[in-house]
Amino acid sequence: MHTSFVLVTLLTLTEGFLPSHTPASPDTTLLLSKPPISSSSSSVVSFDAPDEEKPKWAAGGVVSDLVNALIGIKPFFSLMKLGARQQLIGTAEQNGVPWRERALALRQKQAILDQYFESCLVDSVEYPEYYTQEFHAYEEGNLNWPAAYECEQATMSMALRVWPTESLSPKEAQDRLRYSFIDTVREYIDGITLTDQERVKQQNRVSSSSQSGAKPMFPFGSLFKKSEQSQPGALNTMEDKVNKAKYSSSVDSIVDLGCSVGVSTFYLSEAFPLSKVTGVDLSPQFLAVAKERQWSYPITSPVSRNVDFVHGQAENMEPFIASESKDLITACFIFHELPQDASRVILAEMFRITSTSGLGTVAITDNNPKSAVIQNLPPPIFTLMKSTEPWSDEYYAFDLEQAMRDAGFVDVITVETDPRHRTVLGRRSAE
Ligand SMILES: C[S@@+](CC[C@H](N)C(=O)[O-])C[C@H]1O[C@@H](n2cnc3c(N)ncnc32)[C@H](O)[C@@H]1O
Repeated sequence: MHTSFVLVTLLTLTEGFLPSHTPASPDTTLLLSKPPISSSSSSVVSFDAPDEEKPKWAAGGVVSDLVNALIGIKPFFSLMKLGARQQLIGTAEQNGVPWRERALALRQKQAILDQYFESCLVDSVEYPEYYTQEFHAYEEGNLNWPAAYECEQATMSMALRVWPTESLSPKEAQDRLRYSFIDTVREYIDGITLTDQERVKQQNRVSSSSQSGAKPMFPFGSLFKKSEQSQPGALNTMEDKVNKAKYSSSVDSIVDLGCSVGVSTFYLSEAFPLSKVTGVDLSPQFLAVAKERQWSYPITSPVSRNVDFVHGQAENMEPFIASESKDLITACFIFHELPQDASRVILAEMFRITSTSGLGTVAITDNNPKSAVIQNLPPPIFTLMKSTEPWSDEYYAFDLEQAMRDAGFVDVITVETDPRHRTVLGRRSAE
């Protein structure tokens, strides 16, 4: 078959044909000194977006269409995915990720996992059609145990892939990835300029709260371009900076959407130890593993004390999260798994739950369509990526910044948090 031959040739010519993600993935780094990729202005990206706005292999164009045609050859791709999976696991283990060992350990705890599963399962939760498709090479998408056993390891592999030339341990890579995101979030919150009305609201809130006091840890305002610094959301005077220094330490409540097995959730909890953190996910199997992981933390740790998990749809959190009730809403590596329609509905729901103190912030981190690494992925890798993540084309063509503004967020900026990932941040103004 001619098309298969083309692909086999591509695969053979390129070493290490692993998808950027196979089973469950995230991807981010540590570039606080970098200016935002873009700020309030952003061109509308659609399926016929300019080539430099998205990878050539995604969302329209000759290369993308060819790849999509190849992916359509199902039997061939099933075989290829199997081969890629073996290689993914082998490479991960060589790099110190205990892939099969951890999966086996979890399988041996199935009785406990079943209990956690039962305790978190919400029968009324509906799974959207996009969510029940084959995903990350698992036929049942994210709704199965083998995927749940492997999420954490896949996350470690993803972090290691961000810095391929450095000999980092899985933990070092993960720390770097997560703190790049968290530091960016803190810096954004500390850099918010409140309007007079918002300032009054915030002062009332602080004086009625028993929590506060931790020192800001990061420099102010460097996420904003100079030209933005006289606008709302930017820093103006030294007095402003001092006033804002404590904002990020007054984050009381966090919602982590698409929390999976809790990796992003636990990092957030440790970074904001006074906050109540709610992890939301559609996969009860993933949540069961998250709970198992939670109880491996010391009983006194913030992770043990402050984190809850909810089985629910990010599109509809009305049953469990009140409007305007959360200070920080994060979404780490979920948007590349979504069709655009779902992304828009979720952004509207994120807006609904964000507090109206003026500091209520959303932070979305995921693959960066403008990243040189992502744009120049070798053909076998982007082909596999597209074949295992069916909404890639929609994600790479989505203008996330504009969609956030459309949802109602202000001061929307994008920060390149590592060579592969971006974090898009915004806040809800006081109405
Ligand atoms: C790549 S994982 C996220 C990993 C995790 N946040 C981290 O950073 O390690 C994406 C997660 O989003 C969840 N997800 C996808 N669509 C969702 C939806 N509509 N509502 C809730 N969770 C969803 C999936 O079940 C999956 O666990």
